[in-house]
Amino acid sequence: MADLRINLAGITSPNPFWLASAPPTNTGYQVQRAFEAGWGGAVWKTLGDPIINTSSRFAAVHFNGQRVAGFNNIELISDRPLEVNLQEIYETKKRFPHHALVVSLMVEPKREKWHEIVKKVEAVGVDGLELNFGCPHGMAERGMGSASGQQPDLVEAQTMWAKEAAKTPVIVKLTPNITDITSTAKAAVRGGADAISLINTINSLAGVDIDTWNTIPHVGGKGSHGGYCGPAVKPIALHMVADCARNAEVGIPISGIGGISNWRDAVEFMLMGATGVQVCTAAMHHGFRIVEDMIDGLNNYLDEKGLASVMDLIGKSVPRYSDWGNLDLNYAVVAKIDNDTCINCNKCHIACEDTSHQCIDMLTSDTGESYLQVREEDCVGCNLCAIVCPVEGAITMVEVAGTEPPLTWNERQEAIAKLGEGNSNKKEAV
Ligand SMILES: Cc1cc2nc3c(=O)[nH]c(=O)nc-3n(C[C@H](O)[C@H](O)[C@H](O)COP(=O)(O)O)c2cc1C
Repeated sequence: MADLRINLAGITSPNPFWLASAPPTNTGYQVQRAFEAGWGGAVWKTLGDPIINTSSRFAAVHFNGQRVAGFNNIELISDRPLEVNLQEIYETKKRFPHHALVVSLMVEPKREKWHEIVKKVEAVGVDGLELNFGCPHGMAERGMGSASGQQPDLVEAQTMWAKEAAKTPVIVKLTPNITDITSTAKAAVRGGADAISLINTINSLAGVDIDTWNTIPHVGGKGSHGGYCGPAVKPIALHMVADCARNAEVGIPISGIGGISNWRDAVEFMLMGATGVQVCTAAMHHGFRIVEDMIDGLNNYLDEKGLASVMDLIGKSVPRYSDWGNLDLNYAVVAKIDNDTCINCNKCHIACEDTSHQCIDMLTSDTGESYLQVREEDCVGCNLCAIVCPVEGAITMVEVAGTEPPLTWNERQEAIAKLGEGNSNKKEAV
């Protein structure tokens, strides 16, 4: 069996599955039960100055039969006294010395505040600190969370202040509520961060009750924006992780978070550069025991791939994630319909006819049976027919042997520019 241990900027854990800082890591009771269940690490629910949480604070988006496709919350950081949390952290670390215990912190953007909390938390024995610059609601109004996480200068300064006092590795947790995630990732690096983690939740309003006209959720008839997470946010998170991983100016380890529900999601994040993952919504939806399947699935996958260590996965797909300008414009695929498995539902025909390139014909055979056929010369290889097809494998996208050599848009522009130079030289010569 492969070695599942990871080392994230010096923080080691028996496997790459950590619980993210959130309700599942609110107390020692929970974190200890999670470690017993098999989680390799946990980031304790964010500590800071005590706050008051609202009653009614979660909402979910159930989509087309899937419960909790997305999850929304207006919860703030820990509402339990700091001293109680510290005592429980101490006890948890003592009981589980080999698990990764990281504590999430959020204080006002003041040097002395960061020094004070870092020292207090490290005194009880933790493996690392995570600075929460991501919470998009409640704390932001107080100049913390995403309010400071959206400003690279503040990310840099606060990371620096935490690092001045810290003896353990410092992970900076980034907010996705920003245009370019690498700007704050680079600020964290300038501040001396040992690693980054992303993403925190995305600004959202889960819905509006069309009978009462209240927001979902609402607190006594009033609502406010919350943070979105769960399976729906995974593509956004994966892109942001990949964007940081492929940026040489970031260059520090990444803890991947956002919509991770199973071992496959975890593998994707690791291939895109994450050294381990953190999970919140999936654990809230299904309980701590989901980690058993995650560990089994990952073990089997690594064995099948012949990999000795889970660390061998990290970043393997990063070189394959590039800018649009580096894609081969001469690469082509076309759709092929397998008429033996096709159920003639016509969804592909309708999708192609109404919203794509009108290249799936409805034909009738000599024996009078109707069937669908792609006019390959008109197919642009958009994938829409395969996406809407309800039968697995009935439509496949097949590579067309190209007659032209690979050519990217960037190469094309360069060639055109050179031609222009040549022409002007010619003109001068003339
Ligand atoms: C109810 C709730 C409370 C959260 N509280 C915190 C928090 O205190 N600190 C923090 O850094 N992130 C907090 N998060 C964000 C999660 O740690 C995580 O970044 C986010 O949920 C994305 O992961 P997921 O898609 O697996 O849920 C919270 C998330 C939820 C759903």
